[in-house]
Amino acid sequence: MANPLFFLTLLALSLSLVLATAITIQDFCVADSKEKVLANGLACKDPKLVEVNDFFFSGLHIAGNTTNPVGSKVTPVFATQLPGLNTLDISIARIDYAPWGTNPPHTHPRATEVLTVLQGTLEVGFVTSNPENLHFRKVLQTGDVFVFPTGLIHYQRNVGNGHAVAIAALSSQNPGVITIGNAVFGSTPDIDSDVLVTAFHLDKTTVNYLQSKF
Ligand SMILES: *[C@@H]1O[C@H](CO)[C@@H](O)[C@H](O)[C@H]1NC(C)=O
Repeated sequence: MANPLFFLTLLALSLSLVLATAITIQDFCVADSKEKVLANGLACKDPKLVEVNDFFFSGLHIAGNTTNPVGSKVTPVFATQLPGLNTLDISIARIDYAPWGTNPPHTHPRATEVLTVLQGTLEVGFVTSNPENLHFRKVLQTGDVFVFPTGLIHYQRNVGNGHAVAIAALSSQNPGVITIGNAVFGSTPDIDSDVLVTAFHLDKTTVNYLQSKF
């Protein structure tokens, strides 16, 4: 018979991991970059060793380099970049867009996103799951705010004349990003091309081309 102590330990461990993000029972849990334990979130640094810079990040005044095939760049400030965010269910990112630059369709599996346009004109949209595949789309100007609900596929595109900048606030210290094209055509190892031929109504040559592009 299995050792009941083992199950108790497992239960206590899983409970503590759930509590690590679900309920805040301490002022903070600054991520300890040296700790290698894989918990639901990052392990806490000894509060006595925490310093002011654990709650600080500098760099969002710097424009991201948009010289890339999609013409946009996300500069994330998640728990990895700002250890003080650990367990606090919030994070932020700066997004830069070259003219006609696109932040391609993607989803954040763990976060709702509130996007604020700081500069320029952005077309934004998301697609719902219920009702299925309803597309909400809008053009935003400087100062406009838009919300992308948790998990839904969304995108932005610069439709103004110049560079555009937005700030995204996300309801997770570690929102996760799944970019649809990359996940489907650029996985490691590849999804079998026959699966993609069927899924996307494409011929094999096109699937192979797309797989070479991602
Ligand atoms: C931006 O990225 C491109 C492509 O990687 C690179 O050639 C260029 O030097 C970068 N520009 C700056 C200012 O870092």
